[in-house]
Amino acid sequence: MRSHYCSEINEDFVGKEVSLCGWANSYRDHGGVVFVDLRDNTGLVQIVFDPEHNKDSHEVANKIRDEFVLIAKGKVRLRGEGLANPNMVSGKIEVILDEIIIENKSLPMPFELDDDKVNEEIKLKYRYLTLRSKKNYDIFKIRSKATLSARNILDAKGFLEIETPMLTKSTPEGARDYLVPSRVHPSEFYALPQSPQIFKQILMVGGFDKYFQIAKCFRDEDLRADRQPEFTQIDVELSFCNQEQVMEVAEDLIKSMMSACNISIQAPFKKMTYKEAMESYGSDKPDLRFDMPLVDVDDLFEKCENEIFSKIAGDKKNNRIKALKVVDGDTTFSKRELKRFEDYVRGFGASGLGYFQMKEDGLKGPLNKFFDEQTLSDIAKRVDIKVGDVVFFGAGNTKLVLDYMGRLRLHLAELMDIIDKDVFDFTWVVDFPMFEKTDDGVKALHHPFTLPKNLDADIEDISSYAYDIILNGVELGGGSMRIHQVDMQKKVFDLMGIDEKEAEDKFGFLLHALEYGAPPHGGFALGLDRFIMLITKTSSIRDVIAFPKTQKASCLLAEAPSEVSNAILREINIKTI
Ligand code: AMO
Repeated sequence: MRSHYCSEINEDFVGKEVSLCGWANSYRDHGGVVFVDLRDNTGLVQIVFDPEHNKDSHEVANKIRDEFVLIAKGKVRLRGEGLANPNMVSGKIEVILDEIIIENKSLPMPFELDDDKVNEEIKLKYRYLTLRSKKNYDIFKIRSKATLSARNILDAKGFLEIETPMLTKSTPEGARDYLVPSRVHPSEFYALPQSPQIFKQILMVGGFDKYFQIAKCFRDEDLRADRQPEFTQIDVELSFCNQEQVMEVAEDLIKSMMSACNISIQAPFKKMTYKEAMESYGSDKPDLRFDMPLVDVDDLFEKCENEIFSKIAGDKKNNRIKALKVVDGDTTFSKRELKRFEDYVRGFGASGLGYFQMKEDGLKGPLNKFFDEQTLSDIAKRVDIKVGDVVFFGAGNTKLVLDYMGRLRLHLAELMDIIDKDVFDFTWVVDFPMFEKTDDGVKALHHPFTLPKNLDADIEDISSYAYDIILNGVELGGGSMRIHQVDMQKKVFDLMGIDEKEAEDKFGFLLHALEYGAPPHGGFALGLDRFIMLITKTSSIRDVIAFPKTQKASCLLAEAPSEVSNAILREINIKTI
């Protein structure tokens, strides 16, 4: 129906006939001559209904309202003297109409389409209307290009795209499962996959050397700005490879996807151990667009005359005292601001926040009285502080201190606006601990199929061949080398307190496969939605998913989840309470 898209038409078309299709974006009647901005997913063109040019089409013009669907045929001409619109790509031209068809009407808009302040729930209910904007179209164009380039590069590297089941058994990625009742097996349930993890490993046992999938994953977990209950991974697995080779595939994949979106990046990416990331940045996903590392000062605080600090400093196995220097420039923080930072960390469990300000005559602050001059000068030297800067201290249990000081680091950087938002900073975090001790017992930090490095060490000292890809402080992807020998897999379950019966019930199908000649293998998965969110610089993952769910995991458009009739429930042997 169309000869061109709106954004294709410019001064070179003057005098040519075009046929445009789209929606009426706006309507203006200037003393009988009607102007309508016609919009398609590429942009706008002004169409003109002039009664002196064509009486029939002008009569139709009066019936047009916002978002009516139009097919407009006419000739391109330059706009009159002084009437060009510099804000429009096609602002120098317009199309004088010979023929117009109103293909469809529209109800009045429930909200202004380009009004950013409209409540998100209403926008999601009318998702088809918000999707009409060029901004949204461009996001999904980028998503499509990135996905296509992922397929192309993995295909070129010899990977096969293979689908794994959606109706399956639980995969242990740490969230709750979405369950699907079975009609033919009363009281039994399928789980929707949290990832294709087990199946991709079994594909390796099946001899499919190099696998990938653009895979839908489902996790019933608390939602955040970068989490959806249903999301997409680019999931990859390889056999007969080492960790470096897996990481190289991930880097090539990311490079190629970025390049498809016209962003060029450098590989290989930086690498940092988990320990280094936690100790220096208080996070396993450090934002390295700015430095501001946490610095150990336990030894210096050991000399302080405050018993609380010296006691904390004395127990190095369980505690940390970390300093965080802030280059505050000319303005120093007011007492109120300093109090606000303390309140901020208290919100994450800190019992307080110490600080010094660097003045012409040395470090000054409420802690001064506990330190001698030499120690104060050693602290200043340790953090390399200049006049005008401030240094904060967190002291206490290691896990707690690293967490709130890491958060404070990010909070201050945001507040002082020192993060370059145009940078794409990729980092690998490697050598994750295999396990963590929680109140519910020993848990795998990645998942229990990860290959440990030193399984005979103390539980919390066991490291693993696991790695995460961090982009600008967000976990973009993760992966590991896997256990391919069944005895080791059983030992890992054993350390996690999973007995033989439970292991058999939950993962028997993997354990059996491992017994039939499983090759060494490893892989990773990249969060596609997060990737698109970061490269399009949108603030919510919902913006890059065509039909996203709310924070409460509802689809407001389809009104899902929804109740079902008793007859259906009976058929699947379910009673609700
Ligand atoms: P992991 O659980 O780290 O690893 O997931 C990989 C990546 O998927 C993305 N992701 C999410 N994106 C949106 N919403 C969510 N709820 C969500 N959860 C995860 C993240 C994350 O980095 N099977 C392993 C991978 C492997 O070992 O090969 C796995 O799923 O970007």
